Amino acid sequence: MPKPTAHGSQLPYTNTLTMEHQKSVFEYEVYDSIEELSKQDAVLLNEAKKTTQSAYAPYSHFQVGAIAQLANGKTVAGTNQENASYPVGICAERVLLSAASSLYPGVPIHAIAISYHNDHGASNRPISPCGICRQSLAEYESRFGQPIRLILGGMDGKVFIIPKAGMLLPLQFSGEDMR
Ligand code: THU
Repeated sequence: MPKPTAHGSQLPYTNTLTMEHQKSVFEYEVYDSIEELSKQDAVLLNEAKKTTQSAYAPYSHFQVGAIAQLANGKTVAGTNQENASYPVGICAERVLLSAASSLYPGVPIHAIAISYHNDHGASNRPISPCGICRQSLAEYESRFGQPIRLILGGMDGKVFIIPKAGMLLPLQFSGEDMR
């Protein structure tokens, strides 16, 4: 049925005959604690927890640590690096991706564990990457044609496992869109 407007007529820009609804959903795993993870995932998350200590976060006091498991068996770390000029700061995830791509160009990333320590609050639940980092992660995935599993957890508490980072960014923009 056409949508009535305040004036009783159909809006000029709606076509309810051809319009359809699309739904975007994704599933992820929720674990009560790090103890429930596989040995390999638990090791990676523990490394991420440790590496938060290398963050440079004198402004937010929110230290983020990320560890990538690469296809060649190596791991690469990243932490957030802030700046007195706030927008110059870089998130742990993008520091990590730049490091991995520079140290091991052409090597896919299988998984990334992300943790944090909040000096001014609780650190007992998972955080997930910010919007810019989601875009960077999605590009890394499409570049190598391989999913990156995300293992997200605080210093303690629940752990989320997202099977593919790109799931966090539905309708993502990519190089394909510029062809
Ligand atoms: N931050 C990250 O490093 N990763 C995220 O996913 C969210 C936020 C950093 C940016 C900034 O240095 C501090 O956390 C507070 O936003």
